[in-house]
Amino acid sequence: MLDRKQRLRRGATTAVGIAGAVVVLSSCGGGTGPDNEQNTLHPAGPAAHTIINLFSPFFWVAVIIGASVVAATFYVAIRFRERPGVERNPVLTHGNAVLEISWTIVPFLILAVMAVPTVATIFKLAKVPKGPEVVHITVEGRQWFWQYQYTDKADGFYTANEMHIPINRPVFLTLNSNNVIHSFWVPELAGKKDVVPGHPNTLTIEASRPGTFLGQCAEYCGISHANMRLRVVAQTESDYDAWVASQKAPLPAATAAKFTKEISAKWGCASCHSITNGSKDVGATIGPNLARVGDRAAFAGEIYPMKLDELTKWIYDAPGRKPHGDLVGWMPNFSANGMTQADAEGIAKYLLCDTATDPSSHPECR
Ligand code: CUA
Repeated sequence: MLDRKQRLRRGATTAVGIAGAVVVLSSCGGGTGPDNEQNTLHPAGPAAHTIINLFSPFFWVAVIIGASVVAATFYVAIRFRERPGVERNPVLTHGNAVLEISWTIVPFLILAVMAVPTVATIFKLAKVPKGPEVVHITVEGRQWFWQYQYTDKADGFYTANEMHIPINRPVFLTLNSNNVIHSFWVPELAGKKDVVPGHPNTLTIEASRPGTFLGQCAEYCGISHANMRLRVVAQTESDYDAWVASQKAPLPAATAAKFTKEISAKWGCASCHSITNGSKDVGATIGPNLARVGDRAAFAGEIYPMKLDELTKWIYDAPGRKPHGDLVGWMPNFSANGMTQADAEGIAKYLLCDTATDPSSHPECR
């Protein structure tokens, strides 16, 4: 017989187990998690809604099956547990046709039924949107930032990391990589899609409301994989049009000349970055296009906010702010090449204030 202590210990173990299960389950259900702008349970567009409409019923089917299996396991373990003084061996049987057929057919039927909406969803999401309302953007995964080229208007224009899209219009992305495999993922707008060198993939995203939707590279792509985030800004049609116009608008001649004749002449920035945009002669596209970099909310793969002190630290010693391992041809450590803090701040101020469409949006520029 179990003594009182043993029974108490068993009871306590069971109680802890049940409490743990309740905590885990309540974090899954009851509410849809934090509003962190990258929550798959907060769909904000048709593609994301299509996915969650498939996910939700399957989730509950899986919960019912999982709970039944766990409950049956507990029931059998308790009901047929060893009891002191009682000698009981299970009856040995061989083969039970009814059981074996049913536990083969039932899972087969469940999976067959689930395959129907799954395949339909895959085809629905893969459909190429057509019509004048479709926005076309070519996405290129780099180590480690995202480059976007808007290809609808003649000549197109480039931007990096921060993608602006009009609401209620399908945005058809062509995904390329010039190096390794990345994965483009904005959880509240669409599923993830691999970005493969030499094999362009496509993905349609769409937002049903204005807002900011965060995303990130979802495929390990090197040492700064975690520093390859992105942001999608969904805007009303008029706000979007104004943004497109601002990105294509050339910088004043004196501003552009300051970059080429002063800054780049000294530090060689133009071998990777360009200060022109929206023309055939766009310049270097190795690093992010800087023509309107001051308009973006963050930089360096969305890891630092677009602020004077952050930008200064970055220009002074970029490798110290974002690891690049053995990758060749990356942003150099200018502090080791004779750049002073004051030099870096001067360049940062230029990029922040002189390239911004509305410099007064930055307190440091007022
Ligand atoms: Cu790009 Cu991970």
